Amino acid sequence: MKVLVTGASGYLGGRLCHALLRHGHAVRAFVRHSSDLSSLPARSKHVALEIAYGDVTDYSSVLEACSGCQVVFHAAAIVNSWLPDTSMFFTVNVGGLKNVLRAYKETDTIEKIVYTSSFFALSSTDGYVADETQMHTSKYFRTEYEKSKTIADKIALEAAKEGVPIVSVCPGVMYGPGKITPGNVLARTFVERFNGRLPGYVGDGNDRFSFTHVDDVVEGQISAMEKGQIGERYLLTGDNASFNEAFDIASTITNTKRCWIKIPLFMIELYGWLSVLFCLITGKLPLISPPAVDALRHQWAYSCEKAQRELNYKPRSLTEGLEEVLPWLKKIGAVKY
Ligand SMILES: NC(=O)c1ccc[n+]([C@@H]2O[C@H](COP(=O)([O-])OP(=O)(O)OC[C@H]3O[C@@H](n4cnc5c(N)ncnc54)[C@H](OP(=O)(O)O)[C@@H]3O)[C@@H](O)[C@H]2O)c1
Repeated sequence: MKVLVTGASGYLGGRLCHALLRHGHAVRAFVRHSSDLSSLPARSKHVALEIAYGDVTDYSSVLEACSGCQVVFHAAAIVNSWLPDTSMFFTVNVGGLKNVLRAYKETDTIEKIVYTSSFFALSSTDGYVADETQMHTSKYFRTEYEKSKTIADKIALEAAKEGVPIVSVCPGVMYGPGKITPGNVLARTFVERFNGRLPGYVGDGNDRFSFTHVDDVVEGQISAMEKGQIGERYLLTGDNASFNEAFDIASTITNTKRCWIKIPLFMIELYGWLSVLFCLITGKLPLISPPAVDALRHQWAYSCEKAQRELNYKPRSLTEGLEEVLPWLKKIGAVKY
């Protein structure tokens, strides 16, 4: 099977390319000329990896890359809680998907598209655990990223109704070894925490996120290619926990002291505003922004039962995942404990 992966230079995309090659597929990695390719397997005549340069906002490059492929994994996106130019979320995250769908119609080889949506596209779940039947019907979005992924999610579902063979997977908050991009939120938070720049808990622990190991997501994506039903969404999520619970698990694993103060969210939000101001002057993107704090004020808890049942999805527990990630972060010198 010849498979195109958009976003191949990213955190998830890089690991997906490795896994697809292990599963015996020929991979065409769609990257930008500016992309850092360090997350991709080394190229050699023994590795069935091909690089296609382009941009998901440039239709002709998407069409060319799709040519001759049977499957497209569309994972490219702008992943961030805030950017000075918010239009980028829509140009790339919505426009990119539209270009892939258009290319499908003009290419006669594509049999399936696996679109990487997001838990954000299902909206928050304050006080309960949601499944794939939940649609984001609210007009309120915490981040422009959430809004763009929600619009794109609906476009994917509509396309399936029109006959496009598309399956959507919705990962939770991904963590695990790999590139530390803005989407690798938990690793970035641990880097701050274990280097003494985040001296306490983040708020009072009322947040809830579904933490999912990146390699479990990758296996779920490959299963979605093999077994996913057209027009269906699959939550590729894991343990539902607060960031503070993740901190406590990390303290136990690393045998380090638990946090003893809680930093109120309004203080983190104030820091976010200052970081945004600093970014507008220097161009350095903030680690935390006010919209990200808004997301922390809500719960995003999901059930992956459907994926377990239909895709044989087997997510590991957060403790198991962190037992791998923390030593890895230590080994690469990103944290000390
Ligand atoms: N991270 C999470 O926790 C999470 C959770 C749920 C869903 N997701 C979804 O999973 C997917 C991958 O996320 P990630 O965390 O791996 O993000 P990431 O590391 O930031 O990777 C994003 C990828 O998209 C590429 N990209 C961005 N703009 C592009 C453009 N205009 N044309 C072509 N490629 C472009 C990037 O290329 P460059 O290397 O050139 O920048 C990169 O390869 C996204 O669709 C995201 O919405 C992520």
